[in-house]
Amino acid sequence: MKKICFVFGTRPEAIKLAPVIIELRKHPEFELNVCVTAQHREMLDQVLDVFDIKPDVDLNLMKPDQTLSNLTAEAILRLDEYFKNYKPELVFVQGDTTTVLAASLAAFYNKIKIAHVEAGLRTFDKSAPFPEEINRVLTSHIADLHFAPTEIAKSNLIKEGVPEKSILVTGNTVIDALLYAKDIVCKNPPEVPGIKKEILNAEKQIILITGHRRENFGEGFENICAALSELADEFRDNYFIYPLHLNPNVRKPVNALLGNKKNILLIEPLSYLPFVYLMTKAKIILTDSGGIQEEAPSLGKPVLVMRDVTERPEAVEAGTAKLVGTNKLNIISSVSDLINNNSEYQKMTSASNPYGDGYATIKIVNSLINNLL
Ligand code: UD1
Ligand code: UDP
Repeated sequence: MKKICFVFGTRPEAIKLAPVIIELRKHPEFELNVCVTAQHREMLDQVLDVFDIKPDVDLNLMKPDQTLSNLTAEAILRLDEYFKNYKPELVFVQGDTTTVLAASLAAFYNKIKIAHVEAGLRTFDKSAPFPEEINRVLTSHIADLHFAPTEIAKSNLIKEGVPEKSILVTGNTVIDALLYAKDIVCKNPPEVPGIKKEILNAEKQIILITGHRRENFGEGFENICAALSELADEFRDNYFIYPLHLNPNVRKPVNALLGNKKNILLIEPLSYLPFVYLMTKAKIILTDSGGIQEEAPSLGKPVLVMRDVTERPEAVEAGTAKLVGTNKLNIISSVSDLINNNSEYQKMTSASNPYGDGYATIKIVNSLINNLL
């Protein structure tokens, strides 16, 4: 039996690896072990519950307002110990978080092969996203199997010297997770904690907001809040719903600047099913999230991306995403345009699937069967 382990630590990694874990469990030729660093605690546990994944090993690393260096150092040490005990043949990592870089380094030091899911995303700007651009570049040079979501991602890897035969274009596993969740919420609409049913079903239009990027801390978040505050005054019939990330660098300024606006609803981070349901109900999504840029096109929702650069140009090319940065006036005019100008809105709503059709997991699992057995 081939021993494979999955290492992840944050909400998006869990969402994007869950379909692969669930599918691989159906193959008795592989012995699976799930190790979570718990770089995130509550937000990770929310996802584990939805997909019914019980980690075999939980390193429980999260500390309030943790620093990049502390988390990285601690994760490498603890993962090194884990790899020495478990001795897997292959380690799966996903994306570009601290957990991904730490797990890749620790696996490499133990001469264990690494499979990288969502390989090849690049902005070519090491300050944005920070520190993720460097995490993923380094991981690409350590990993052995590269599951790229798109042809653009594949070509980024080839230009950096990654051998073409080690790359497989699969689509993004987030679409597999999204389709699974969408099916459930369409049949059985979940409660959305913090939001009354009347709001979800009312004529009033929902603008859904998320934001957590480190490069937006400080001035960026202040600008975003100032823009939301003016928009909420101007569009009093709309609800601006913002599930707040648990990072104190996000919560403090957002609570302080937007806490007393009637039609801005600041709520706790949502579990995946209610969040997907809320996306289906939203008119516009305003975000700096990576995963949401991939999910929204599949749902036909316009996404305004509060970043200056994106590693996901496919959605911008498809016309469903637009970069608006963190400039207050830019955010206000882009949201206003979409609310006031129906033809502008329609242009951004065509459902498209630049990130896959829900078969990424099957492609990854088939490739393992061909490569490892
Ligand atoms: C991390 C990832 C980022 C990813 C994001 C997804 C890095 C460097 N950053 O950023 O790439 O897009 O997760 O959301 O890996 N916290 C809690 N409970 C939780 C989660 C976070 O209290 O469940 C708080 C803690 O105070 C923690 C802080 O948020 O110290 C920051 O968490 P961390 O994982 O370091 O950074 P994120 O900004 O969440
Ligand atoms: N998400 C969620 N609950 C929320 C906000 C987001 O389940 O309250 C999901 C979202 O659908 C997407 C993922 O979390 O799949 C994105 O995570 P995040 O924005 O934290 O990280 P990023 O994708 O930017 O790395």
